[in-house]
Amino acid sequence: MKNVVISGSGLYTPTEIITNDELVNSFNHYVDQFNAEHVEAIARGDVTALAHSSSEFIEKASGIKARHVLHKEGILDTAIMRPIFARRSAEQMPEMVEMALDAAREAMAQANKTAADIDLIICAASNMQRPYPALAIELQQLLGASGYAFDMNVACSSATFAISNAVNAIRGETAKVVLVVNPEFASPQVNYRSRDSHFIFGDVCTATIIEAEDSCTSDNAWRINSMRLKTEFSNNIRCDVGYTEHCLPTDPLVPFFKQEGRKVFKELLPIVADVILSEMASAQVAPEQLKRLWLHQANINMNIFAVKKILGRDPLPEEAPLVLDTYANTASAGSIIAFHKYKTGLVAGDHAILCSFGAGYSVGCLMLQKC
Ligand SMILES: CC(C)(COP(=O)(O)OP(=O)(O)OC[C@H]1O[C@@H](n2cnc3c(N)ncnc32)[C@H](O)[C@@H]1OP(=O)(O)O)[C@@H](O)C(=O)NCCC(=O)NCCS
Repeated sequence: MKNVVISGSGLYTPTEIITNDELVNSFNHYVDQFNAEHVEAIARGDVTALAHSSSEFIEKASGIKARHVLHKEGILDTAIMRPIFARRSAEQMPEMVEMALDAAREAMAQANKTAADIDLIICAASNMQRPYPALAIELQQLLGASGYAFDMNVACSSATFAISNAVNAIRGETAKVVLVVNPEFASPQVNYRSRDSHFIFGDVCTATIIEAEDSCTSDNAWRINSMRLKTEFSNNIRCDVGYTEHCLPTDPLVPFFKQEGRKVFKELLPIVADVILSEMASAQVAPEQLKRLWLHQANINMNIFAVKKILGRDPLPEEAPLVLDTYANTASAGSIIAFHKYKTGLVAGDHAILCSFGAGYSVGCLMLQKC
């Protein structure tokens, strides 16, 4: 079987930042307004009073301190509480393609590849700004690449599942050099009036180049030794809004994102631990051989729990890097951001794991080794 590597990675980070304090101040202002407007109904018991959010809770429960967003305007305004942006015309690229273009160029430069080398582009993310034509095909045209391109969605595991598709395409000889992009434009799906989830997501885009080891000229390439993918259906992280929405009776409060965070925590972690430990056993990689774990970035406590299960001890901070504090949950891009920012300082032969987990449920585990 052909050896396949990740030969480059790229990251686009929006410049605008929202801190927990900014978000909580705005949310609490909204709560005070709501409770004042409904004071009599609350006293009668017809309406439940809303409770304040807190920065301390958010940081302790999730590890998130801030998030990057593409369009800050509107999110903090209690009369709006959503990102404000204009619909772009067919002649303008949508935000997701614009982010992807930037991250792709960095990944291509790292891998010493030009558009002429790329013959497959996969745009893999939790939300697509439009169903068709595929965003990946627009990106293909803008880069000037040939071959073929498609979009795919496995929610938080979109990136790892896409990399596994890329590996299979290279081994099956339907592609030679694959560009995977993960534009996570997550802020529009957030209900900024929901205390349980207003703090969770940030916007970002990651990119990776996947190719056969024999064509790789990168000086920081990672061989994908093996992969294990797993899905198990759950309603605990769910979005019900789709293209049929305009036919249905309008409910302005239908949330784009909803989750039962506690249940996710309890149900998903055993699946994650099982997938990673099973793959380590079949790849014959012992915990002490693992030099780095680039894990999904949804919740600091989940990551600490998973790493302890894998290593049998507390990790050193550099062993399982976290980017949650500044990026928040960026869905499928999270583990790739950690990989992109913390893949240096390792030597040829070092083993590492890149693993996503999230809605579906879905888990994607890649066993990597430094070339
Ligand atoms: C979302 C998440 C951070 C919430 O943390 P949690 O510890 O489970 O918090 P809970 O929802 O159980 O709430 C705990 C308490 O904090 C309160 N609380 C909830 N949101 C709050 C907020 N923003 N500010 C202050 N308090 C809050 C709750 O009301 C509850 O109070 P109670 O104990 O008096 O009832 C956490 O469950 C999580 O990250 N789960 C995994 C989610 C995941 O991976 N999702 C993948 C998405 S892609």
